[in-house]
Amino acid sequence: MNNNFIPLEKTTDKIVRDDLMPPFHKNGELKSLMGFAIKTKNITKVYKVGKTNISVLKGITLDIKEGETISVVGPSGAGKSTLLHIIGLMDKPTTGTIYVEGITNTDNEKTLAKFRNESLGFIFQFYNLLPEFTAIENIMMPAMILGESESNIRKKSHDLISEIELAKRAEHLSSELSGGEQQRIAIARALINSPKILIADEPTGNLDRHTGESIINLMLKLQLNYKFTLIVATHNEEIAKKFSKTIKLVDGQIV
Ligand SMILES: Nc1ncnc2c1ncn2[C@@H]1O[C@H](COP(=O)(O)OP(=O)(O)OP(=O)(O)O)[C@@H](O)[C@H]1O
Ligand SMILES: [Mg+2]
Repeated sequence: MNNNFIPLEKTTDKIVRDDLMPPFHKNGELKSLMGFAIKTKNITKVYKVGKTNISVLKGITLDIKEGETISVVGPSGAGKSTLLHIIGLMDKPTTGTIYVEGITNTDNEKTLAKFRNESLGFIFQFYNLLPEFTAIENIMMPAMILGESESNIRKKSHDLISEIELAKRAEHLSSELSGGEQQRIAIARALINSPKILIADEPTGNLDRHTGESIINLMLKLQLNYKFTLIVATHNEEIAKKFSKTIKLVDGQIV
C-alpha cells in the first residue's frame, strides 16, 4: 500500500472537526476559560486618521470571572469606550484575541451578531431609546427582534418594569420620561433577553449625582438577582468603589 494513503473518511473527519472547533478549544485552552466570562490577550486598537496612526489600546490582557462586577476608570481619551465595544464584540481589535462566553473576535459575523442579540446587554450614556415608542415597547423591542412569543415578552417586560419601579410609566412615550427614568428603561431593555454580560458606558454621565448613584445601585441590585457579569465605565471614583474590581486605563494601558 502507498504510504501516503489516507482514508478519505479520516481526512474529512479531521477537516470538519478542525473547522467546527473555535480556536480556544485547541491545545486544551478551553479548560482555562472555565469560570471566566471574558479573557483578552494583548489587545491593541489603532485608528488610522489620514496618514496618522492613533494607537488607542496598547496591549490589554485581562480576565473577568463570570458574575464579577467591574468598573473601568481612567481619564477622558484613555480608551474606556473603545475597550468596552471590543469586549462586547461590537468592534474588532487591531491585534490580539478576545474570548467572551465561548465566542471569539475571529468568529464569523453571524455568530457575533447572535452573541450580541442573545447574550449581551449594552447601556449607553444617552440611553438611546426610541422616542416614538412607549417605555414598555422599548423594553420589549430586543426580544421581539429575536421572535419570542409576544405574550411571554409582554409578561417579562412588565416584570422588569416593576423591578425598576417604573410600572406607572409603562405606557408613556420614552421621550416623556426624565433622564433617570429613561436610563432605568434602558437597563430593563438591556436585560429583556437575560444577557450573560451587561456592559454600560458611563451610564450616569448625563445624570445628577443622586440619580446617577441610584442607577448604579439598581444595576448592582439586578446583578445580585440575575448574576450577569457587569462592566461599567465611569468617571466617578465613588461609583467605581461599589464594584468588586476596578480596572484603571491610562493612555490605552491598564495601570
Ligand atoms: N473612530 C475613531 N477614529 C479615530 N480615533 C478614535 C475613534 N474612536 C476613538 N478614537 C480616539 O481614541 C481615543 C480613546 O477614545 P475612547 O472613546 O475609547 O476614550 P474614553 O476613555 O472612553 O474617553 P471618555 O472618558 O471621554 O469617554 C481618543 O483619543 C479618541 O479620539
Ligand atoms: Mg468613553
